[in-house]
Amino acid sequence: MPFDHKLYQSIIDEFTVSSDELKKIAANFRQDLRIGLRDSSQSDSRMLKSYVGLPTGAERGEYLALDFGGTNVRVLKIQLRGSGRFEVLKRVGRPLIVPGEYDHIGANSSAEEMFDFIAELVDEALDGDHEKQYLLGHTFSFPSMQTNLYNARLITWTKEFATPGVEGKIVNDLLSQALERRGVKNVDPVATINDTVAVLLSAAYQRGSTYIGSIYATGHNTCYLEPYNDSDDEPMIINLECGRFSKLTPNRFDKLLDEKSEKPGEQRLEKMVSGRYMGELFSMAVAELLGESEKSFNFTSIDMSNIIMDESISRENVKSVVKDRTNVELETKDCERLQTVASKIVERSARLVTSTFVGIIWQLAGDEDIKRQHIAIDGSVYEKMPLTKENINIALKELLGDDAKLIDTVLDNGGSGLGAAIAAAMSQD
Ligand code: GLC
Repeated sequence: MPFDHKLYQSIIDEFTVSSDELKKIAANFRQDLRIGLRDSSQSDSRMLKSYVGLPTGAERGEYLALDFGGTNVRVLKIQLRGSGRFEVLKRVGRPLIVPGEYDHIGANSSAEEMFDFIAELVDEALDGDHEKQYLLGHTFSFPSMQTNLYNARLITWTKEFATPGVEGKIVNDLLSQALERRGVKNVDPVATINDTVAVLLSAAYQRGSTYIGSIYATGHNTCYLEPYNDSDDEPMIINLECGRFSKLTPNRFDKLLDEKSEKPGEQRLEKMVSGRYMGELFSMAVAELLGESEKSFNFTSIDMSNIIMDESISRENVKSVVKDRTNVELETKDCERLQTVASKIVERSARLVTSTFVGIIWQLAGDEDIKRQHIAIDGSVYEKMPLTKENINIALKELLGDDAKLIDTVLDNGGSGLGAAIAAAMSQD
């Protein structure tokens, strides 16, 4: 049975964000920042201080970098050479969950197991060297409250992590204790930063004119360098945790997804835009179109990317992805419709993310002209999802008009690791 055309059209409409809406969202986002700078309890974004500004590019030395923010944890040994140069000397990584084998992120895991697992990985990166002293920078990509560069305390898990015993704790204390249990005495965790902050540090280390750093991947979040123009405070990077932004118009799929999630009511923007959730939104739309709303198909954002990219006449790839996930054989016409649904979900995601960037650009400019600048972004959605970059550029033009030519987005691949090393170096200033 081909898809019901009315239903299909209504789904497309639900994922469409008009120019006017986009402008409203950007303006609301900026307003939220302004309010948040005065009192973060009044804003959607958490506006967390990172206790670090931008690097000079001259930072040097050999550091350990722990990148902990998704299911894959990585530890790198990085040599900073100054003048924006660096070398990765060693890289190890392991997933925190292998279904059927072990799981360090579910509700049945424990903080101790999780950090013992990470300490083992740190040890692996040392290659048996228990003598040379290392400072470790930790990119911990969850909302954390800090009062200095070291003491990030996890406020709440996001991205469906549920390990008990970490919320409310200073994560580097948990790491230090695990390193001690393992007998690793030559590693000193000195700095914790969010992954958005890491991306900004990494981009600013390598090139100038970058004040906004963003992650557009499993999760989504952005930070920026607040200049504190109206006060004597030193410029400092603020981790917005804007995945929480909620002055948006969720459609019925967004609402359902939120209800079924680990933390209903939280991370509303993130649940509309990030890779972790786009596949779920698409799955729900497909289930409706197939007349099987009660079923949950597990399309991922990678499936969506494969679906969108299929340009073959008979849409063979779409057919096979859909067959794998749903056991249904689609006609070519319906495959094309599913491509449009997937494209619309991606388009909406890129438009919403861009409206938040523009809110920040307006905030940075204040009453002055907008400065020429790069926005540094890392993450699989930005890097690999078709249509993302195009839609970011279209939305920048819609929102900024001619000024859009002053702004470009740049991929900062691997910034999470490099940024952690830079933060470790900056902790010594
Ligand atoms: C989630 C986290 C945030 C992180 C983002 C990207 O939104 O709360 O801290 O930056 O994911 O990894």
